[in-house]
Parts: sequence; C-alpha cells; structure tokens
Amino acid sequence: MKVLLDVDPGVDDAMMLLLALGNQSIDVLGITTVCGNVGILKATENALKITAAAGSQVAVYRGASRPLSGKCMHATGIHGQDGLGDSHLPKPMNKPERTKAAQAISEMAENQRLSIVATGPLTNIAMFLDSYPDMAKRIERIFLMGGVYCPKSTGNVTPFAEFNFYCDPEAADRVMASGIEIVAAGLDVTMDGRCAVDCSMLAKMRGIKTAKASTACKIISNPVSRQSIFHLHDVFALFAMLHPEIFESRTCRVRVETAGKQRGRSIASFGIGNIKVLSKVNAEMFQEKLLRGLS
Ligand code: BDR
Ligand code: CA
Repeated sequence: MKVLLDVDPGVDDAMMLLLALGNQSIDVLGITTVCGNVGILKATENALKITAAAGSQVAVYRGASRPLSGKCMHATGIHGQDGLGDSHLPKPMNKPERTKAAQAISEMAENQRLSIVATGPLTNIAMFLDSYPDMAKRIERIFLMGGVYCPKSTGNVTPFAEFNFYCDPEAADRVMASGIEIVAAGLDVTMDGRCAVDCSMLAKMRGIKTAKASTACKIISNPVSRQSIFHLHDVFALFAMLHPEIFESRTCRVRVETAGKQRGRSIASFGIGNIKVLSKVNAEMFQEKLLRGLS
C-alpha cells in the first residue's frame, strides 16, 4: 500500500511516524507537514528529526503555515517547547524538499492510488483537494485523527471541539464532505486510558533495545512525568490502517461547525455515508501492536 503521512509533530505524531517508518506492510512515499501542535518550521524540522532517528530516507515536504482562515493555534503546553517532549533530539542534517505539500500529494497520487494518514489539522489535504480536484479519485482512503463523535464525549479544546478540527474547521469540513472514504479516530476512542503511555508502559518500552524504542522513550518520558499519562491519539489513525481488526466503527456522514461557540465541532449523522468513525478499541491488542511496532 502506498502511503502519505501528513503530520504536525507533536509527541503522538512522532510516535506514529516511528511506528510507520520501516513498517514492511506499507510503502511510505512522503511526509507532509502542517502547522498545528507547533509552527510549520518546527513541525518540519521535527519530521526530519524523526526520519533521521528512524534511519529513513523518506522525503519531507513543508506544508501550510496557517489554517485556511484565521490564526494558528499551538499546543506546546502538552507537547513541549520543541514539540517533541523537550527531548532536544539532534538537529537534522536533511532539508525539506522544495515542492510544497499540496503539489507533492498530487504528484504522489499521479501514478498510483494513495492512502493518507493525517494526524494534524487538515489544511494540506483541503488545499490539495481545492487545487487538484481531479485527483480526489486517486485517494484510496484517508485515515485521520480528528473530531469527537459520541454525543456523550467532550472536546479537548472546548467542550465541543477536538484540537485538529478546532485548528482548521474549514479544512476539516472540506475533507469530511469530499466523498473520499475516510476512517476517523476521534477522542471517543483515542482518550481510552488503557491505550495511553503511563509509567508501566514506559518501563516496557524502555525494555525494548531498539533505536526506535529508545527515540520513542526520549520523546515521551517528559510528557509522561509531567502529565502522568500521555494519550497516543495519532497512533490510532495509523493502527486503523495497519490493524483494522482491533477496532469497531460506525458509518456516518460528518459536518464540521466553522464558526461561533461550537466552532470545530464534528456533527455526525449515523447510518449511511463515506466515513467510518472508530467506536471501540481492543486495548490489549493496541498495546501489543505498539510494543511490537517499536521492537
Ligand atoms: C490531536 O491534537 C494534537 O495535539 C495531537 O497531536 C492529536 O493530533 C488530539 O486532539
Ligand atoms: Ca497531531
């Protein structure tokens, strides 16, 4: 499967990248970056740091430096000043490509159908759809982290909205309305504490003597000691692609509120539609896949 990773690293984006790069069952054609957890320059540098740590040569393309409208919002309080848990990984030697993200996605999709794992605000994907409308049919499926779907669950930025959708609700609405097949991991499942990294999971990760596991531990140890557990939201989007059997999902259509008090809110109509939202996870299997992926 040919895959593009669209990210705003971000501690959990970094974990997702470490698990995706070098995975034998997928062929990662590129990484595009977007402003979100940190600004675009830092997000791009972080993507390069992770590819270097993973020993990967995959190309990194710089994407949108701000949402379709309005200002950027960051989450350094959660992800650290450097966006990677204040791990201060070495400066990368590699540089990003010159091609901008939307064009790069279009070029990657030109000769083959492409799956996308998107774990930041959806600005790059929306810009790609607007700039290359004929290329939408080349996208096999989008696996994304974003939104909150169960009426009982609440957002993590406002009571209504999840961070990625709140950062760029216009882009989220554009992508959700595109008709492309989407699998969405929302806070309903990603906040499941059984899948988060706590001290005991960190100890298990430390026991894995690989370069990947050691980088993962460097990145996640400060956030775990500060917050006691760290939710791996973005890993759910990757695992929905790699290990669909560990999830249950519900089919729906989704609209995203773009203004007012409920800005960023995902409104799902269940029954029919092009979107599957994850509704349940087998936590034991999730943990096993996580540890095996770092091994
Ligand atoms: C999402 O927001 C970011 O902080 C995380 O990286 C994840 O993509 C969770 O709401
Ligand atoms: Ca993210």
